[in-house]
Amino acid sequence: MEFQTATCKPTILTGDRATGPLHLGHYVGSLAQRVDLQQKYEQTILVADMQGLTDNAHNSKKVSSNILNVVADYLAVGIDPEKTTICLQSQLPALAELTMYYANLVTISRLERNPTVKAEIQSKGFERSLPAGFLTYPISQAADITGFNASLVPVGDDQLPMLEQTNEIVRKINSLAGRSVLNECSPLLSKAPRLPSTDGKSKMSKSLGNAINLGASEKEISKAVKSMYTDENHLKVEDPGKVEGNIVFTYLDAFHPDHEYVQSLKAHYQRGGLGDGTTKKILEECLQEMLRPIRLKRMEYLDDKAQLIDLLKRGSEVSREKTNRVLREVKGVFGLNIF
Ligand code: TRP
Repeated sequence: MEFQTATCKPTILTGDRATGPLHLGHYVGSLAQRVDLQQKYEQTILVADMQGLTDNAHNSKKVSSNILNVVADYLAVGIDPEKTTICLQSQLPALAELTMYYANLVTISRLERNPTVKAEIQSKGFERSLPAGFLTYPISQAADITGFNASLVPVGDDQLPMLEQTNEIVRKINSLAGRSVLNECSPLLSKAPRLPSTDGKSKMSKSLGNAINLGASEKEISKAVKSMYTDENHLKVEDPGKVEGNIVFTYLDAFHPDHEYVQSLKAHYQRGGLGDGTTKKILEECLQEMLRPIRLKRMEYLDDKAQLIDLLKRGSEVSREKTNRVLREVKGVFGLNIF
């Protein structure tokens, strides 16, 4: 793997669309990993408000009202602003400029082939009303990643096509320059499998009401666990039950600290004699315990919005300098640094 030579420390860049508070899926997929990574690496986290607008321009409040929620989520799970730079995408004009330069290197048909974007376009039912900004958001994401010359990007597997497109752009820029101007990046996938939604059917999403937010209240957690999909053929307590695809066990695997205990519960469930009410109660206790301190910290942070804004401002200032340097290099590749 190629590391950034200037610092000898790989630079990590990751981000989240600010379209809603973060949930347990984000935690398992990437937040927990970021908390570890900040100890060893130079890490920047981008609150992607501009990317959030690509499908919410007519409902921009959904984005603007969630920026500080997302920052509070980061801090509440243990991201330390002394170790990790947290910045706001819309405060970094170099990223928008880089997007315009890169857009000339990417064809529409390549954008239409991106499997994640393709699936999103379908599920959002855009058809003829597809915003150009949405189709091109992988280019803007490439600007985010290369703008920091990041070599490692912790993401969920749905983001792999974005990194592939980023590296294609990197290779094009380097080939135009005849030297290595930008780093190729590698994904850092979480070892934990993707967390299913509580209904076990679709992707976790706030709008579908099948996710447990990090800031969920006790009541919300309880309700979500009670409504979890288990095994539809497990009708009576004495019936043998299935643990595969049983969301309660998937969550116990992901969050219960005592792995052996979960294994023994699974064996009991498979034999018969263990009811869904009991397994749900065990899971609920475990999630309540885990989320209580996070919820409290999150509320404390949100009580002092001025402090959160200040933190974002400082992070954005540092990042503005970094991204401006990369922009200058890329403009140079096109011969546009004439003054
Ligand atoms: N597309 C990412 C998501 O939907 C958010 C994102 C924006 C991102 N810019 C990024 C992720 C740069 C990693 C790196 O979650």
